[in-house]
Amino acid sequence: MRFEVKTGAAAKLKTSCLMVPVHTSGALVAATRALNSATGGMIADLVDGGDIRGRIGDTLLVSPGDAVAARRVMLVGCGDKDKFDRKQYRKALRAAYSALARTRHIDAISCLHLEAIKGADLGRRAQIAAEVWQNADYRFTTTKSDEANESPTIKSLGLAAPSGKTAEIRKGLRRGDAIGLGMRLARELGNLPANVCTPSHLASEARKIARGDDRLKVEVLGEAEMKKHGMGALLSVTAGSVEPAKLIVMQYAGAAKSKAPIALIGKGVTFDSGGISLKPGPAMDEMKFDMCGAASVLGCMKAISTLKLKLNVIGIVPACENLPSGIATKPGDIVTSMSGKTIEVLNTDAEGRLILCDALTYAQKKYKPGVIVDIATLTGACLVALGRVRSGLLANSDRLANALLKSGEAADDPAWRLPLGPEYSDLLKSNFADMANVGGRDAGTITAACFLAKFVEDVDWAHLDIAGTAWLTGQKKGATGRPIPLLLEYLTKHA
Ligand code: BES
Ligand code: MN
Ligand code: ZN
Repeated sequence: MRFEVKTGAAAKLKTSCLMVPVHTSGALVAATRALNSATGGMIADLVDGGDIRGRIGDTLLVSPGDAVAARRVMLVGCGDKDKFDRKQYRKALRAAYSALARTRHIDAISCLHLEAIKGADLGRRAQIAAEVWQNADYRFTTTKSDEANESPTIKSLGLAAPSGKTAEIRKGLRRGDAIGLGMRLARELGNLPANVCTPSHLASEARKIARGDDRLKVEVLGEAEMKKHGMGALLSVTAGSVEPAKLIVMQYAGAAKSKAPIALIGKGVTFDSGGISLKPGPAMDEMKFDMCGAASVLGCMKAISTLKLKLNVIGIVPACENLPSGIATKPGDIVTSMSGKTIEVLNTDAEGRLILCDALTYAQKKYKPGVIVDIATLTGACLVALGRVRSGLLANSDRLANALLKSGEAADDPAWRLPLGPEYSDLLKSNFADMANVGGRDAGTITAACFLAKFVEDVDWAHLDIAGTAWLTGQKKGATGRPIPLLLEYLTKHA
């Protein structure tokens, strides 16, 4: 699907379908008004006649006649004009997309972004359109034999541009397109079953992203190299699996070498059975999504590469399976991490922190990053605390935490901060090792982050717990691509 910028008067735009907003009040806004006069009052007649109420989600496709260059006009409900905000705008965009996708039209030009929205300039509105439409255009078909040949039908979506606004709209579209495509990749990797999306599969996807970009280098460490580095924590998680673990490292050089990189570290447990501390059966299939942190890092690296961001970024993905077997790690086993710290594995289901702690140490030793953000489907407790609305955010730096929170709000991909502190990390004390890998039932999201914090030396670090936000469950089961919008917003605006 291609995004384009189209200049000219609404009535003169050549397209299969021209999308214009209508509000519940019936008052017509500029683009709609222009079409209304060109058609001799046809649109006002439809609205006043009650053919469309103008609520969010409503659409009406009409034939405007010869006075308009577009073959069809789609009236798109945008609700109460005074309450039209980014959320309503996103909903209207989705409704317009799905109404168009139900037809045989393969192109359209939209005027929806010409509506004023508080806190979203024209560029932002264009960005949102591209991000929403890329996501709307994604359907999982890879392992469905009947739908596999059904290619997406919409080829081109244009945005009408008032004179002098072309550059702003183009820039927004480019950004939204890159974010949307990054999200599509992350969603696809998340949705793939664990027998397809293995650690090796993630590694080959990383290589694919880097193909053709000189700024992006990929290195994949195998288990022998992990052993050499002393990554006993990571290796203890993969012990029960025959699928080889991978430590995927993507190095993006978009700025001077002297500039410290930002490290993005994503949990890549391609299936989490819990290990010997086996999870209960119901919904265990959803633990194929336990690599969504990794997928978000890959999606971000893809978007960063597309947008040629002037930053140095290291993407690190520790990837493995967590399975029980005769040689799996057992509760009570003590392992030595790359940092030298020993860990009593009281619960083999708290495996995410075990692979992340070695990745954190590796990132710091090898790349001396100025900022580290890790992204992980780390705790069920986060889902209990924040639901599927906000990601959990824990950080050792107020500056970084606030920048990420702000980015989440701006990108409509919000997070909420939870505290760290010695009162919590004390819960990780072990009688037999430097620390235990679990801290009991209380404050599960916080103690998990406290565990990670023990492996962070003197660097600004934040942890995003995306257990609630990385995928939807129930009828709409599937990966969301979050928190890529938050991360890209941070990388483009604050870093
Ligand atoms: N991947 C899970 C966390 C998870 C569970 C995410 C459910 C989304 C939905 C993680 O590895 C895990 O099992 N965490 C344990 C930690 C506990 C043993 C301290 C949990 O949350 O139960
Ligand atoms: Mn687990
Ligand atoms: Zn897990």
